[in-house]
Amino acid sequence: MRAAVISERGIAPVVGEFRAPEPREGAVLIDVDTAGLGGWDVLGAYRLGVEFPCVIRGEGVGRTADGRRVYFGERSVQPFGAWAERSLVPVEEVWDVPEGVDDRTAISMGIAATGAIVPLEQARIQPGENVLILGATGTLGQIALQLARHLGAGRVVGAARSADALQRLQSRGLADAVVRLGSTDDVTALKDAANGGFDVVLDLVCGAPLLSALKATRWGARIMTIGTGAGRQIQLDMADLLFRTLSTIGTGQRPPADRRAIWLRLLTIAREQKLSVDYLDFDLEHAAEAWAAQVAGPHAKITARVRR
Ligand SMILES: NC(=O)c1ccc[n+]([C@@H]2O[C@H](COP(=O)([O-])OP(=O)(O)OC[C@H]3O[C@@H](n4cnc5c(N)ncnc54)[C@H](OP(=O)(O)O)[C@@H]3O)[C@@H](O)[C@H]2O)c1
Repeated sequence: MRAAVISERGIAPVVGEFRAPEPREGAVLIDVDTAGLGGWDVLGAYRLGVEFPCVIRGEGVGRTADGRRVYFGERSVQPFGAWAERSLVPVEEVWDVPEGVDDRTAISMGIAATGAIVPLEQARIQPGENVLILGATGTLGQIALQLARHLGAGRVVGAARSADALQRLQSRGLADAVVRLGSTDDVTALKDAANGGFDVVLDLVCGAPLLSALKATRWGARIMTIGTGAGRQIQLDMADLLFRTLSTIGTGQRPPADRRAIWLRLLTIAREQKLSVDYLDFDLEHAAEAWAAQVAGPHAKITARVRR
């Protein structure tokens, strides 16, 4: 079968022939229609316990042998994944896509939207609070801006480095204000945008932006770190964290039934709140270009047509 294959960690995928998965007890064979890629794929998904060579895991939508149209996340049975004509996925990770939901929405409401809603709900946003999304121009960030508003935020601010991508957030009406990071004084820029201080920070990048954002929070602030694209190690002055809570949370460890219930809830929110996500579309044969775009920071959800 055709597949986008990673030969070892840190090496970009190459599209070629790869052995097709065989049926296995407890797992479902899926003919993949559409595959998705996320920041986690290029940052760390191939770091631990991966058998090489392997197909890009990603996430996808496809059909089972009995005709079900299903979504599946990053847990294909190794070494298979969504970026191939066929994948093999544990039965509990194969979720029926409801009528009327398109492939791209099923995918963007998967890992990315789940990664946004879990920490935002845990932060218990109070009506009218100020919320900052650090790393707001990526897929997760775009969704988080809208979910923060849906959960009751008063002022929603997005921060990232790309001026063009920040401008696009504003033209789509996703943020009340944006902050371009990487200036000489990020702290002042964040404080100026904070209207007296942020109550909640959803931090998708960690590193220096997190340290700057902490200084723009007020007492009682809840800071939720879920990504490390700007650096995994920080030198934290504990004074910046006094009377605030910093949580680092991941959503992937939750049992499949919980993640499925969150995903179904997100599909409803996406329809009712008309959540918008920018997409960048490829096909499987151009998986290397899709991977390079994700590494460069696409400011959009990357999807690829797999079966013609
Ligand atoms: N813990 C979980 O459960 C969970 C679940 C899903 C995702 N995640 C993590 O969440 C993060 C976001 O995912 P995604 O798919 O939305 O990724 P993405 O599309 O690559 O977006 C990354 C965002 O961070 C910004 N950024 C990157 N490096 C930066 C830096 N040095 N300083 C400031 N901003 C920076 C980018 O914008 P600019 O290029 O404009 O700066 C962009 O807005 C990833 O780290 C992913 O691993 C965690």
